[in-house]
Amino acid sequence: MKNSNAPRRPVDIYITGLGIRNVSQITREAEQAMRLSRKVFTVDAGFGIDEYLKTLSPEVHSMLGHYQEGGDRLRTYRAMAAEVVHAALDASPVCFATYGHPKVYVYPTDLIEKAAPLLGLTVRTLPGISALDTIITDLDLDPGPRGLQMYEATDLLARERPLQPDVPCLLWQVSAVETAMYSTKRGNSERYRRLQDYLLRTYPAGHQVTMVLSSTYALLEPLKETFSLGELADLLARGLQVGTLYIPPAEERPVRNPDILRDAFDAKHLQRITASA
Ligand SMILES: C[S@@+](CC[C@H](N)C(=O)[O-])C[C@H]1O[C@@H](n2cnc3c(N)ncnc32)[C@H](O)[C@@H]1O
Repeated sequence: MKNSNAPRRPVDIYITGLGIRNVSQITREAEQAMRLSRKVFTVDAGFGIDEYLKTLSPEVHSMLGHYQEGGDRLRTYRAMAAEVVHAALDASPVCFATYGHPKVYVYPTDLIEKAAPLLGLTVRTLPGISALDTIITDLDLDPGPRGLQMYEATDLLARERPLQPDVPCLLWQVSAVETAMYSTKRGNSERYRRLQDYLLRTYPAGHQVTMVLSSTYALLEPLKETFSLGELADLLARGLQVGTLYIPPAEERPVRNPDILRDAFDAKHLQRITASA
């Protein structure tokens, strides 16, 4: 077994999330990490975020300028990671702070975590409130009873990942489907046709799906648009494109092992499965 109680070396790079709803979802430990950091590098277009972070750290640098219309997103993420690691080599600690959770679809986090130890730098990654958390609240969706499947839209198509029609599904990065390039231009209906066709292999055309954009500002409500799956391509081309696509279950999965459910409420069964003194 690996000993995780070894004394920790001082942190060179903090990686943290900033939540979704402007400054109101930044955790106390994220704030503490930024207070300890000489420089904070941010990826967050939220209103007033960088201004707030300047009250915590002497230097706050937005990395949004790395994105170029039509530019390769992977190169952008490499440039972000390189800038953070370079700053830490120069004078640590520094902090990479991104909207949402820093481990949920954030490639620079992986790059920093891999590159830093090779250069003798320590990293501590702290959780943040993800769009996953806010969506769960916005949709009143408890993953307990039926589970939850979630996929990145392009990866779903490229690998033809199997979908379970009885399990709620979240599709991420629908607005970026079928391209690794960065663009703020609206997708047309052709762009979403292949995604629609793939989903129609599992769900009926009349199945109601919801595009959800959680509130990014305290005074705004979440935006939700519900429509039939068979209209996905045409309606996405005209409506809400940013956000995450929610596909509710289309069917129930029957219980295969009723004994397990019966035993779960049986005190004698509990005695059988717990250690005796
Ligand atoms: C690169 S990922 C980053 C996710 C982020 N790290 C997080 O934890 O929420 C971007 C994707 O997150 C989802 N997303 C980001 N902000 C959102 C919001 N306000 N509401 C719903 N989904 C959102 C969308 O699926 C979007 O394409």
